[in-house]
Amino acid sequence: MYEIKSLKLGHMDNLIYLIKDKKTNEIAVIDPAWDVDAIFNAADKMEGVITQIFLTHSHYDHVNGVDEVLHRTDAQLHVHKIEDRFWGGAGRNATLHSGGDHLKLGSTELKIHHTPGHTPGSVCYELDGNLFTGDTVFVYGCGRCNLRGGDPEAMYHTLNKIGKSFAPEMTVLPGHDYATCPSSTIGQQLNGNPFFNIKTLHGFVDYRMNKHYRSMPYGPVS
Ligand SMILES: [Fe+2]
Repeated sequence: MYEIKSLKLGHMDNLIYLIKDKKTNEIAVIDPAWDVDAIFNAADKMEGVITQIFLTHSHYDHVNGVDEVLHRTDAQLHVHKIEDRFWGGAGRNATLHSGGDHLKLGSTELKIHHTPGHTPGSVCYELDGNLFTGDTVFVYGCGRCNLRGGDPEAMYHTLNKIGKSFAPEMTVLPGHDYATCPSSTIGQQLNGNPFFNIKTLHGFVDYRMNKHYRSMPYGPVS
């Protein structure tokens, strides 16, 4: 069994997640950033030890605590091999992954899904009925595709795949708290997230790149 704790940190409303394997008390941190002391305090409260770092992608606001966590612990860093190349994560001795790989945190197992679009090596982590989506899926939004490495066509295919691959009850745990609620389900996103409801590639690319000017907090569209 496991326990999940989320922290909202930094001026960009990042959501950082800690997963504790209850059998071994090992903790994985997803996207450590902004306030590493807060992350360690949370780990202490959970009575666990940080042994792994899982990155959803390598943008600054998701990785700016990585080096300090590596410095203060014996943790192993995990990143998609394409993202590592894109990031230039040299010197951190990351374990490089491909989509479909499984990760072990004590007796807890996660699966990596390669979900390019926001960056070339973005991933989502699946843990039972939970999907940690980084900047791929936001609650009623999705990550920008106009930053370096962004690709709106890839994002279209990624969201199509996500919509078809997971049960409607699957919980979506995004990398930012940009919406009326911090988490959601695949079913709610299929219904109310505009990015899951544009049926053509051309229409999606045009909306993502030129027309998406909704203000935060994001809510459902009908
Ligand atoms: Fe990002």
